[in-house]
Amino acid sequence: MYGPADITIESEFKCLGIVADLDIIILKDKKMGLVIPKLVVIGYVLFSFANSVYAGVTSSFIRSEWPSVDIPLDNEVFEIPSGYNAPEQVHITQGDYDGKAVIIIWVTPIEPGSNQVRYGKSEKKYDFTAEGTVKNYTFYNYTSGYIHQCLVNDLEYDTKYFYEIGEGDSARSFWFQTPPKIDPNASHKFGIIGDLGQTYNSLSTLEHYIESGAQTVLHVGDLSYADRYTYHDMGVRWDSYGRFVEKVQAYQPWIWTAGNHEIEYMPYMNEVVPFKQYLYRYPTPYAASESSSPLWYAVRRASAHIIVLSSYSPFVKYTPQYEWLEAEFKKVDRKKTPWLIVIMHTPIYNSNSAHYMEGESMRAAFESWFVQYKVDVIFAGHVHAYERSYRISNIHYNITGGISYPVPDKSAPVYITVGDGGNQEGLASRFNDPQPDYSAFREASYGHSTLEIMNKTHAFYHWNRNDDGKKVATDAFVLQNQYWNKSSKKETEKELYAHNRPDSRT
Ligand SMILES: *[C@@H]1O[C@H](CO)[C@@H](O)[C@H](O)[C@H]1NC(C)=O
Ligand SMILES: *[C@@H]1O[C@H](CO)[C@@H](O)[C@H](O)[C@H]1NC(C)=O
Ligand SMILES: *[C@@H]1O[C@H](CO)[C@@H](O)[C@H](O)[C@H]1NC(C)=O
Ligand SMILES: *[C@@H]1O[C@H](CO)[C@@H](O)[C@H](O)[C@H]1NC(C)=O
Ligand SMILES: *[C@@H]1O[C@H](CO)[C@@H](O)[C@H](O)[C@H]1NC(C)=O
Ligand SMILES: *[C@@H]1O[C@H](CO)[C@@H](O)[C@H](O)[C@H]1NC(C)=O
Ligand SMILES: [Fe+2]
Repeated sequence: MYGPADITIESEFKCLGIVADLDIIILKDKKMGLVIPKLVVIGYVLFSFANSVYAGVTSSFIRSEWPSVDIPLDNEVFEIPSGYNAPEQVHITQGDYDGKAVIIIWVTPIEPGSNQVRYGKSEKKYDFTAEGTVKNYTFYNYTSGYIHQCLVNDLEYDTKYFYEIGEGDSARSFWFQTPPKIDPNASHKFGIIGDLGQTYNSLSTLEHYIESGAQTVLHVGDLSYADRYTYHDMGVRWDSYGRFVEKVQAYQPWIWTAGNHEIEYMPYMNEVVPFKQYLYRYPTPYAASESSSPLWYAVRRASAHIIVLSSYSPFVKYTPQYEWLEAEFKKVDRKKTPWLIVIMHTPIYNSNSAHYMEGESMRAAFESWFVQYKVDVIFAGHVHAYERSYRISNIHYNITGGISYPVPDKSAPVYITVGDGGNQEGLASRFNDPQPDYSAFREASYGHSTLEIMNKTHAFYHWNRNDDGKKVATDAFVLQNQYWNKSSKKETEKELYAHNRPDSRT
């Protein structure tokens, strides 16, 4: 359903009656050692003015750096670490409710080997050990390596830890930094990445993310896109993805969310248990938030309470996810964690023709809680483009009442779609026209976001399109806390928008 970016751009421009200046450049990329056609659209920013103060912006900046194809398996980004049975695909996530633990996951390819993590506060001096577990699975005719999972807990806050896994000459070492203790004023910088995959665009997103200096990733689902392959190759592409992202995921926790590409319901292979490979590979600390499933859970980190929802698990009234969320919202203490963030895969407000309204059922189930509990921001992926909403809600819609349009609502969250990590399906560049007035800014480019929480009242939000490097704030604004706000200071949506000047350079 996502055509190659060039075709889509052309039709977009044609229908807008604008002559686009398309330069096809053959780029010799030194790093990849490949000749890659590079499509550059030279500079247009379109402003679409609706007749209200909520007029949003549709940026027509589309620059598709590389074709949407997965990097070949023999590329160095997927390199298998040297040494017999060396640990690979190392990744960590928060291991408890409050940030004093991590779960470390790695794969040994040939034999189970050791489940031990050796760790400590100085390099190469490991004063502590923790013992994990190992498992393996088959998926049709693919047999996984040995997937180790080890909880390292009772850590000190705000401390750098070094850790080592594997045996003898094959041992490998990494490090991570624990977050500050739960404190209303604690600062922390989150990155938000969605729909990443394993293409050259994915690599660009990862590299830009590394430059951002963020400390924790909120991954809004659709990880490896291994389900685009068949049979044995599916497992192989989960492994290559694990090696691809290790350079980030071994050093800082990623809080992951299941997307549709994690479902892998594959009757043709007699593989019908949803999320099978994902759940073997990406455990979560769900029990710490009294969830009954690794697919939905919550963690608290620094000054943020982060709720992770599963768009593809039952969530209507009376289901486990619904009941859990109802209880979790009651546990949120904005005096301890002023920032309330929800992440999910399918966006609730989005105006792209790709996946339009797929989030509607979850909106009907949960939106009134998002407003009631004054959620600060909701991040989603799924749509391969970037979009930000104003604070709006549609909670008065009751089928017969006639009111079915979202309205400005100061208690509502900002909805941000960051499904633009760069996977092999390409960009979703067909936005609904005209831009609905709930949509503040939208652009079909690859990138990632960061949310830098400064203290209990202010956070800096920044979307970075890959083409810009780390310094250009393509969409940036100051997010004021929904609970700790100065009601005296009137920040209207218009002022909020004034912080955000879409950049029109080429
Ligand atoms: C897991 O590995 C063991 C030991 O190599 C093997 O005997 C077993 O069949 C594997 N299990 C699965 C589910 O493949
Ligand atoms: C897995 O099964 C597919 C389809 O039956 C077959 O083409 C492929 O060669 C098999 N691969 C392995 C490694 O067994
Ligand atoms: C947070 O910072 C504010 C302003 O500096 C201060 O008044 C407050 O006591 C701090 N709260 C905590 C829990 O440190
Ligand atoms: C639906 O909304 C309309 C308009 O707000 C209201 O008059 C009506 O009572 C509502 N119906 C129900 C069943 O809540
Ligand atoms: C600010 O605080 C007031 C009072 O708690 C609240 O009514 C309002 O919804 C909050 N949010 C914004 C954006 O003003
Ligand atoms: C919170 O951070 C913002 C942005 O850096 C700053 O303007 C504000 O003064 C800070 N508030 C407190 C209480 O430190
Ligand atoms: Fe998706």
